[in-house]
Amino acid sequence: MPIGFDRSTRQFHLYNDDFSYIIAVYDNGSIGQLYFGEPLAPDKTHPFLAPLSFAGFSNNIRSIVRFEYPSYGQGDFRLPAFKVRLSDGSGVVEPRFEKYCIYPGKKAVPCLPTTYIESDAEAETLEILLLDKESGLRIILFYTIFSAYTCITRRVRFENAGKERIILESAMSLSLDAPDSVWNMIAFTGSWAREFTMNEAPLRIGVQGVHSTLGVSGSTANPSLIFRRPETTERIGEAFGLCLLYSGNFTVCAEVDCWDIVRIRAGINPETFSWTLEREDSFDTPEAVLGWSKSGLNGLSHVFHNLFRTRLECGAWRDRERPILLNSWEGAYFDFTEEKLLAMAKKAVDLGFELFVLDDGWFGKREDDTTSLGDWFPNMDKLPSGITGLAEKIRAMGLKFGLWIEPEMISEKSRLFATHPDWAVGIPYRARTEIRHQFVLDMGRAEIVDYLFESISTVISSAKISYIKWDMNRFITEPFSMALPPDRQTEFFHRYCLGVYRLYRRLIQAFPEVLFESCASGGARFDGGILGFAPQGWLSDDTDAVQRLEIQKGASYFYPLNCMGAHVSAIPNHQTGRLTPILFRAAAAFFGVFGFELDPTKLPEEETETIKECIIFYKRYRRLFQQGIFSRLDTPTDRNTVAWMVSSEDKKSAIVAVYKLNASPNQKPFRVKLAGFDRTKVYCVSLWEPSYRAGLIFDAADKRLNCGSRGGDELMSCGLLIDNTFLAVSITGDFYSELFLIEEEA
Ligand code: GLA
Repeated sequence: MPIGFDRSTRQFHLYNDDFSYIIAVYDNGSIGQLYFGEPLAPDKTHPFLAPLSFAGFSNNIRSIVRFEYPSYGQGDFRLPAFKVRLSDGSGVVEPRFEKYCIYPGKKAVPCLPTTYIESDAEAETLEILLLDKESGLRIILFYTIFSAYTCITRRVRFENAGKERIILESAMSLSLDAPDSVWNMIAFTGSWAREFTMNEAPLRIGVQGVHSTLGVSGSTANPSLIFRRPETTERIGEAFGLCLLYSGNFTVCAEVDCWDIVRIRAGINPETFSWTLEREDSFDTPEAVLGWSKSGLNGLSHVFHNLFRTRLECGAWRDRERPILLNSWEGAYFDFTEEKLLAMAKKAVDLGFELFVLDDGWFGKREDDTTSLGDWFPNMDKLPSGITGLAEKIRAMGLKFGLWIEPEMISEKSRLFATHPDWAVGIPYRARTEIRHQFVLDMGRAEIVDYLFESISTVISSAKISYIKWDMNRFITEPFSMALPPDRQTEFFHRYCLGVYRLYRRLIQAFPEVLFESCASGGARFDGGILGFAPQGWLSDDTDAVQRLEIQKGASYFYPLNCMGAHVSAIPNHQTGRLTPILFRAAAAFFGVFGFELDPTKLPEEETETIKECIIFYKRYRRLFQQGIFSRLDTPTDRNTVAWMVSSEDKKSAIVAVYKLNASPNQKPFRVKLAGFDRTKVYCVSLWEPSYRAGLIFDAADKRLNCGSRGGDELMSCGLLIDNTFLAVSITGDFYSELFLIEEEA
């Protein structure tokens, strides 16, 4: 049984084959954090993990006492996990252990995205009820451990069972005290077009972390953190990570105190939040996932990838191979006619695409980004047969049809604004800040969600749409809802996020076959919350392949490849002006949900053939790319070479990509240690060589250059030698990539 309770020590032990998490009820009824990490024997007690008795604070007791869900104002003096304001103005409560229950399975949370189970046997859940007798505040801590993943999930419910109003000023999803601070903390930060930059530093005394006040999780920081031992690499060593399944304002941080205890917190950002609990009201926090690994950062990523791909992503598209799409944005921007779109689609069919996506510009009177958001009906001047007619023509060519929407927005120049100016977020007597010429709809209001559901449903059903790209292109200013009373305005941001989730849920339920891709000016809402609704997301507006290697790498620490939209675009690249060969661009985009955004009618002849080959190749190996085990490989530390691989669960096949950024002559050979093979098996290694690269002897039908056989042990322990085979064409130029196919020999 994965959750045990020992009455003598009052310890709860959550465990599976690879992980233990131990907490206890202290003498004073608060809950202590004792241990997390490598599995400890489940059938033994561990009395010396905790202070022998903890009944209350003295000046130095903090040096040994660690908590699970610490409160404010009682002597702990570190950042509390939650804060309340009672009706007399005081903020101190004493939540003490009342009871617990352990049950197979895992409950869903109303209105919020969570990881889930498909049968009760997959997981076990512990609920601990804490009660503050004076106020009647009940706090329920939820812990779930899965048998198959080295992680737990945590969340918290607050219930007001007292007689007076309680204001929740802060409510973390997770608070975790780690016993030492010898960790490097990695946050993923950035901005528009440079999302997911790895930001790493050793922990130091004080508070460090990232947060959002943007209204969405944002591109400036992802709601996730990794802690690795300084000696941990991609392949070996201890690391743990946490990821908050939330798409609004968040905080994730670590506080190191003078006893080197680290308190880690993850939850809704208390800077922009408080919530009123009237009698009998309750509040659920988002869920947080805590993963642990002793096999390096790749090991940690695998925990999150497996969990997110199979038990967070949901719906019909979860396990399906995702279509190769052509998106119209960089190929046409706002400048299109039906004729032009049909010409692009026709060429897309020839190239082997499966889905044509019409991006921004198809609705209301939209000719540029100054108008029409909110008016979700086709621009008949631009598209005379409407979306219905266009979609029919595109489907008749053999392509599926998809559409861009930005439902949470309203343009001042729109019919919707003329009718409902009060639907836009803002304070009535102050000017609203316009960003990208648009305002934000107050998604916390049910009638607005209803309007959006109706109007978007009409478009989807009228044109048999297969795919929706749901964008969100500005952050939220002047947060204020005309539907909320003054004392509840601090609930605005969370209500906004719940409204977005509500609309997603309704649309997904109404159109279970439609594939949803999330987007927010690229990756400004690429988080575990949205992944619970849209199984893929547009990771960045930066389509430059060199930059993409960094961005996709950053995202890959938590998020699986099958949720990362990755597109090949035209050169010179529209964001950087860089010229990279088509194969390099494709090789970067293979490691994601492969697609294109360019005008295929303008492709140079020599690229056309290569693109066809790339599409054939990706279709053949799509399951491996989208559902295989992804690993980042260690390469020489000159930052000039990047290597990635995907391998199959059954250890029979793998693809290794090596990317060289700048050309330099007479390179040193090096070895890349691979992962995921059977040490006792022999594998055939070959290079994939699409036809255009002259001068190589290869199997023309298969586009492969045979590089010989290697043992699984050799590939993993010695590594794959990257030498002049890889550099076979001696003057390759900058931005050179190779793909190795590795398959078990019969
Ligand atoms: C955002 C998205 C782009 C594109 C444009 C359209 O920037 O990230 O992919 O859809 O909006 O306006």
